[in-house]
Amino acid sequence: MSDRARIFATRSLAGAPLAGLAHRCDLDVWPARTAPTPEQLASRSRDADGLLCLLTDRIDAALLERCPRLRAVSSVSVGVDHVDLDAATARGIPVGHTPGVLTETTADLAFALLLAAARRVAEGDRFVRAGEWTPDRVWEPDLLLGRDVHGATLGLVGLGAIGQAMARRAQGFGMRVLAWSRTRRDMPGVAFASLDSLLPAADFVSVHVALNADTRGLLGESALARMKPGAVLVNTARGGIVDEDALADALRSGQLGAAGLDVFAREPLDPASPLLRLPNVVLTPHIGSASEATRARMVELAVENLLAALAGNPMPHCANPAVYARPT
Ligand code: GLV
Repeated sequence: MSDRARIFATRSLAGAPLAGLAHRCDLDVWPARTAPTPEQLASRSRDADGLLCLLTDRIDAALLERCPRLRAVSSVSVGVDHVDLDAATARGIPVGHTPGVLTETTADLAFALLLAAARRVAEGDRFVRAGEWTPDRVWEPDLLLGRDVHGATLGLVGLGAIGQAMARRAQGFGMRVLAWSRTRRDMPGVAFASLDSLLPAADFVSVHVALNADTRGLLGESALARMKPGAVLVNTARGGIVDEDALADALRSGQLGAAGLDVFAREPLDPASPLLRLPNVVLTPHIGSASEATRARMVELAVENLLAALAGNPMPHCANPAVYARPT
């Protein structure tokens, strides 16, 4: 970097990487715990050379248009559906993301949701806390009966890094694993299947595809109706992949037995969402990658991406590599 680059970080992120960035650049950090509004984001980014953002910041064509100096966008996330990649590429701006480091942590949460939904863990917790576990109900033969995970079939919608990590966990639990992904991938012990054959065969379906034009609404009313009656759906990818109203209907009617959801079409979840009123849904607030070590690694990677781009080098983890193939 010749002169000091100006960076706008849309949230205060703890740790050494940000301190390192402050040492090398003019770093403006959004002071609030809540995300800047689109207008605040645009006005604080106006003179920035680089943007360090989160998945809650919408980086669209209109914003990029208002940031003439911008040379790099780096998101502390693996998913980049909040960034208009085509607009960034057209402006020659590389967009960094953080794949790899959150794979195992996210698969841990997906498997936790699968187990919790299958064995009614959240319902049991509510039952105990509500004082319903009374001496006259010490041990009931039919109290909170759930589904067996061992010996069941898991259908993976998406077999990228997180899908594969989920498959390894399932294999350890003695599950049979089927997987579908847009491009065929082979993994030992995993049977590749079409979506049409996976949905009716799986006792558990776990979603691990990115959200894009092809996957938005992929699990809508008709896909949910094709799932095995009583099956369990787990989503730790993006809410927009599943039609939430259709999912609530399927859970209410018994077509689906339960769901474990970490992501929603609108976040935070609308207090009016029917999902909140269904006992057979386990809900978490988009915490797939939320372990201390993983979040620290994500910030580290995002800062590496930013510094590489500002130094004129390719980002180590670029979500729009086509930017490097553009004629200059
Ligand atoms: C989390 O959802 C991420 O994309 O990192």
